[in-house]
Amino acid sequence: MKANKLLIIDFGSQYTQLIARRVRELGVLSLVISIDDFLNYKKVDEIFGIILSGGPDSVYKSKDYLVIKSLLKINLPVLGICYGMHILIKTLGGKVEKANHREYGRADIKFEKNCILFKNINSKNRSINVWMSHGDSVTKTPKGVNVISSNKSTPVIAFSFKKNIFGLQFHPEVTHTNQGKKIIHNFLFEVCKARKLWTIRKIEKNLIDDIKNTVGNKKVILGLSGGVDSSVSAVLIHKAIGSQLKCVFVDTGLIRINEKEDVKNLFVKNLNIKVDFVNAKNKFYDKLSNVTDPETKRKIIGKCFVEVFENYVKKHDDYYFLAQGTIYPDIIESAVNSKSKTIKSHHNVGGLPKKIKFNLLEPIKLLFKDEVRKLGLNLNIPRSLIYRHPFPGPGLGVRIIGAINKSRVSILQKADHIFISELNKFNLYNLVSQAFCVLLPIKTVGVMGDKRTYENVICLRSVNTIDFMTAKVSRFKFEFLELVANKIVNEVKGVNRVTYDITSKPPSTIEWE
Ligand code: XMP
Repeated sequence: MKANKLLIIDFGSQYTQLIARRVRELGVLSLVISIDDFLNYKKVDEIFGIILSGGPDSVYKSKDYLVIKSLLKINLPVLGICYGMHILIKTLGGKVEKANHREYGRADIKFEKNCILFKNINSKNRSINVWMSHGDSVTKTPKGVNVISSNKSTPVIAFSFKKNIFGLQFHPEVTHTNQGKKIIHNFLFEVCKARKLWTIRKIEKNLIDDIKNTVGNKKVILGLSGGVDSSVSAVLIHKAIGSQLKCVFVDTGLIRINEKEDVKNLFVKNLNIKVDFVNAKNKFYDKLSNVTDPETKRKIIGKCFVEVFENYVKKHDDYYFLAQGTIYPDIIESAVNSKSKTIKSHHNVGGLPKKIKFNLLEPIKLLFKDEVRKLGLNLNIPRSLIYRHPFPGPGLGVRIIGAINKSRVSILQKADHIFISELNKFNLYNLVSQAFCVLLPIKTVGVMGDKRTYENVICLRSVNTIDFMTAKVSRFKFEFLELVANKIVNEVKGVNRVTYDITSKPPSTIEWE
């Protein structure tokens, strides 16, 4: 069977990626595309089913049904969720209008008829608790549509049409929907007759085969950053093509303490992967001296990185491929969410130097972060690296508020190392999403051993978040914060005060610049 993937058409729902992940957790490859891209989608023979996501718009204002009309002609199984259900209803000749009662949050529903989507659902009296989020409702049911669940305020909560078209007003992809995963399971395996081909071992084997086929006997260069994505890419490519891979680690002078040594130990000593270490500290410090504006700093760091990488490549022109640790959310976000505003100019160190004409090798570009992590563990990369907190491309450059220089970097590195070590010591590191120190651009008065001091201030930042779009302060015990503050002030020369940032995102961002 050639068809091996499920297509998710994104209408802008905040839950679209969640749908994709649920499907994959069930062992099936899912891809997300926009409705516009579906019009030009050439590989229809590779898909065995389609899910239409929810979305913020109302179908009565939309012309999307014209596309859905042609989609239904392909005669593949379709499941529409929320907006996706409304657009199916409109296409089939029904009507959707603003609801008298909007429904947000949990709701009890009853499925009155036998339907394959609800097969093996454990419930008393065919009732389940689901997650609703809609302001529109179906007001006219099209001919041939079989209503499976309804109530007074929502006349169609679930429907089937013919044997393979289904609609759900609620969201089976969110965990608040009781047995929602089972409903998606039924759609995949009972309706679409999908096979479980998306498992980490199969993914690894296929990716290695792909890399071998693509690269042949050519050489590959990869910018190693010490982060999860570039590390997993490196180990995977190395497993496929061995010494045809060369990694480059650029020391920008804005990296964490021991970063270079850690990379050396793991990649060079343990895994026998070739890594060139390029010391570019002075170039970065020179270009950044006296620069205080955050965006200017980011741009300088990005530009310097590209120049260093370009220079390296010019001297080593026998590399045919540039490997990158691009992952699936990077691709979906840039393709589907082009309207979202840039708040900070994100620069990924390891990003593609625009002027270099390389062939790109992006072996993990179809994987979500949790899949990259599983793959990394399967490749025997240590857990400590796989579950490392994210580190921004511009590194400590955006955590030193005000001017950057060698001695300020050193203060921040030492303080940060203490904070992270204590988190590990108290088994707190894996309970928070991201923790780090920030060096403030002010000095304050203190007293140490009867002497007046006038030194720097370090701010601790630690947040808990699922998607890094919103975040909350980590609620440590006061004693822990006190202990870290004492340790930093006692052990890091040049610091006499420590604070804790308790703001959430929004209104603040996680990084300070
Ligand atoms: P903010 O500060 O925008 O950060 O709330 C959200 C997440 O993104 C990380 N971050 C970056 N990552 N290049 C990156 O690769 C960047 O320029 C960058 N800026 C912020 C940040 O550490 C947090 O995890």
